Amino acid sequence: MATETKAWWKEAVVYQIYPRSFADSNGDGIGDLNGITAHLDYLEKLGIDVIWLSPVYKSPNDDNGYDISDYRDIMTEFGTMEDFDRMLKAAHEHHIRIVMDLVVNHTSDEHAWFVESRKSKDNPYRDYYIWKEPRDGKEPNNWQSCFSGPAWKFDEATGMYYLHCFSAKQPDLNWENPRVRDEVFDMMTWWCEKGIDGFRMDVISMISKDPAYPDGEVKDGIYGDLNPYVCNGPHVHEYLQEMNRRVLSKYDIMTVGEAAGVTLEEAKKYANNEGTELGMVFHFEHTDGATTAENIIGKWGYRHPRMSAIREILNKWQIGLEGEAWGSLYWDNHDQPRVVSRFGNDAPEWRVLSAKMLATCLHMMKGTPYIYQGEEIGMTNTHFSSIEDCRDIEEINAYRQYVTDHHMIPEEEMLKCFDAVARDNARTPMQWDSSENAGFTTGTPWIAVNPNYKEINTKEALADPDSVFYYYQKLIRLRHENPIIVYGVFRPLMTDCESVYAYEREMDGKKLTVACNWTDEEQDCPLFDELAGTELISNYAKHSEGILQPYEARAVLTKL
Ligand code: NOJ
Repeated sequence: MATETKAWWKEAVVYQIYPRSFADSNGDGIGDLNGITAHLDYLEKLGIDVIWLSPVYKSPNDDNGYDISDYRDIMTEFGTMEDFDRMLKAAHEHHIRIVMDLVVNHTSDEHAWFVESRKSKDNPYRDYYIWKEPRDGKEPNNWQSCFSGPAWKFDEATGMYYLHCFSAKQPDLNWENPRVRDEVFDMMTWWCEKGIDGFRMDVISMISKDPAYPDGEVKDGIYGDLNPYVCNGPHVHEYLQEMNRRVLSKYDIMTVGEAAGVTLEEAKKYANNEGTELGMVFHFEHTDGATTAENIIGKWGYRHPRMSAIREILNKWQIGLEGEAWGSLYWDNHDQPRVVSRFGNDAPEWRVLSAKMLATCLHMMKGTPYIYQGEEIGMTNTHFSSIEDCRDIEEINAYRQYVTDHHMIPEEEMLKCFDAVARDNARTPMQWDSSENAGFTTGTPWIAVNPNYKEINTKEALADPDSVFYYYQKLIRLRHENPIIVYGVFRPLMTDCESVYAYEREMDGKKLTVACNWTDEEQDCPLFDELAGTELISNYAKHSEGILQPYEARAVLTKL
């Protein structure tokens, strides 16, 4: 039965802001902190409890702020530290907490530590990063960086290579060095003292590498897979326990680790109920796993995923974490395509219904839900007609490797993959209204606005009581009002059915029955026929016995 320890962050709903694309207050085409402050009323109306802010620190923006050159300063395009302090204060006045993105697997190559580190082999900062001698005059091993190309870069000054799991401008920090850990923990303490409310930890599962640095399996005929040797490495739990002792345990904050490559068993350690490491982690099984089977190379693929595969993964996590660790719930973030296009149906007749269905399916589960900006109005994927439309380093590098250099994927095919899974789908500007540039900026947006902004925008949504926005608002309110949604035990239902995702939650003599039709056709579903209870939410006003209408979702609360 539900014997979960209570915590504010278990009862919270988080809203992720990608500041670059949220709201531009000064007309330079780039979203900024004052733009966020100006929209806090909107977020308070939605009802969210927490904002997770993608990185706002000083950065040369090779990877849109995930390459930090100064952890104690603000990115010039986003404003100043005074703007940040004002935003934090205003957010708290709106009863919204602020969770910072903590990017400490790597820094920018322009960070003062790296500038020093690369100068000489005996520089005091040398061991802040991972340097290796060449192997036969080449890279120390065959690893491919997560952004294509080798994961090692040769540095003329000392004739050695440094490791970069992401771009060459994102050298990996050497967590084995206790001075690196001291620096990171001091910096975290500095932010906590400022009054922030938590950290989302970027690729935190990658901070401890296999000391043997072995070659990886070559899957695309070019480079080796680094993941098994950098994810969940030998000291990762030790380092997080140290972080917990020295920083996290001293504050009432929320933490969520982005845990690339995490398995259920590992997650139980990272997010253990004893609270010795993190509050919860993000896993990627339902976002990665659900499409890989039919992919072309790596993440590049475009076919429609199967609900039953997604369900099997999510159910496994719901059941597996019960009583042992807390989970997170998400469909979208700044690295994923838009969920209504990916798992729902963005055709005009189904977009709203399927967005609401997907929201119900996720928000009635156990765990802390995350909403990504624009998801609450059903924003969709965009279309890439050429590589010129793309801004994301991951897309640009993959295109160069697979289309231009190695001719492994024809251009049209690659663009089709981008339409389906590119990260830029999530990064087109927030659609506020039907004015030019969707009300995001008065200047030229850094990335093109999705052309559908005239129909899909917050102004329209706020004016329509049946909008996706008000549906999310209701889901959030229901979670705040019904402890069963937060803490109830999860049990899967109808697991043989290919079209309906159903489950129940139970707590304190109550049961919540949830069923979601993931298709555009009517489906059999007997679950509600004999149920005399209260309907908490549905995306249809009328129901028919024994069936769910296309994309219908229902959640009914009954007494046991
Ligand atoms: C994960 C972040 O979510 C992604 O946007 C970034 O590119 C990589 N980590 C590298 O920091």
